[in-house]
Amino acid sequence: MAKYLDDIPLSGITRIRELMYSVQDPFRLDQGDVSFEAPDSVKQAITRAVADGHTHYLQTNGLPKVRELLARKLRHQNRLPVDSPDEVLVTNGGIHGLYLLCQALLEPGDEVLLPDPEWPPAQSNILTAHGVPVRYPLYETRAWRFDAAELAASVTPRTRAIYVNSPNNPTGGVLTRADLEQVASLARERNLWVISDEAYEDVLFGGAEHVSIGSLEKMYPRTVSLFTFSKSYAMTGLRFGYLAVKDAGLRERLTKLLFLTTSNVSSIVQFGAIGALLGSQGVVEQFRVELEARRDLFYEGIRTAASGVLGGQPPLGAFYAFLKIDAGWDAPSEVRSPKSEVERPTSETQRPSEGLGRQSRSWAMTERLIQEGRVGCIPGVDFGACGEGYVRFCFARERAELLGALEAMRRVLVLGP
Ligand SMILES: Cc1ncc(COP(=O)(O)O)c(C=O)c1O
Repeated sequence: MAKYLDDIPLSGITRIRELMYSVQDPFRLDQGDVSFEAPDSVKQAITRAVADGHTHYLQTNGLPKVRELLARKLRHQNRLPVDSPDEVLVTNGGIHGLYLLCQALLEPGDEVLLPDPEWPPAQSNILTAHGVPVRYPLYETRAWRFDAAELAASVTPRTRAIYVNSPNNPTGGVLTRADLEQVASLARERNLWVISDEAYEDVLFGGAEHVSIGSLEKMYPRTVSLFTFSKSYAMTGLRFGYLAVKDAGLRERLTKLLFLTTSNVSSIVQFGAIGALLGSQGVVEQFRVELEARRDLFYEGIRTAASGVLGGQPPLGAFYAFLKIDAGWDAPSEVRSPKSEVERPTSETQRPSEGLGRQSRSWAMTERLIQEGRVGCIPGVDFGACGEGYVRFCFARERAELLGALEAMRRVLVLGP
């Protein structure tokens, strides 16, 4: 048996998602799913593809038409110097792209510098490829950006790659061009790969700019950029992602893994993606504007609904409120009970650096909000040790659901029993 898999944590997001299905009338602020429907351009393209009988095997790396459109998008929107559609590989969502990339890039024992906090599958995918995640902190006091000197000091002879994720899940932090220039010069100096997770490239607020690190000088050949239609086009369940890869050898390995894991990504979904790319891009901006309004509504509400208990600054990107639990909040003893309904992390490998676990305030707050308020949320520590003491809420839900959740939080956290 592949025993090493037993030591790889299944994210708390997954466990909480299962738990939320058993909660009656839940407020689903836990998972990172938008409430919007996919645009008509996608739905119509999918319906047409079914009617036209596009139900057969396809090219392993993706339909030529979708790769051509994506290459054009990468050149114009992301400013990546993509020479040919061959440099684009279609994947079954971003998470699949990340899995393939870690398997294709890493030798056992290779270190990957990874933000803390960070979306949990990043760490798990590195571990699954027998790599070693080495966390670098993001600081709330620096708008959830890193310290360049600290990042540079984390490089060792075993370091293979630096993982960047901007806008970041869970913090919503956005790296500036200057931040990315610092990562780029470190990567060039130390001959490192960069894995650039750009899942939230279209979700930016207050005029913040998205910069693709692969567009910086001499960076494209050493960068693998990872994208998804999940967030930009509200296609989370349809599963469409893609990688931009210059290196031909790496691409060949990725093609093998693509074939072995999926043969090809669903034909119907690929036609849907063509619909998304050929349709009006106004919808992406409409989603963004509405998400900004929901962000403001949620943070405004939190001031009264969690007064003196949870707080933080509105993020510049992504659609999460990563809120700090006030030092004065005392986790009730019954919520710390080991008999709790939510299965808490127990093994050292699940919480490598701090032996957190049952004493975690993040978990205590999460359990309380789920059990007493029906409000889904994710403990910050699930994203890394630096997330302990925080809780993540997704504000990409309908306004009515956000208002319902805020009212429930006020009952649980402020008004009391
Ligand atoms: C930072 C980040 N990267 C990548 C993904 C992958 O999304 P998907 O697999 O739905 O394309 C997600 C999803 O939540 C994410 O938060």
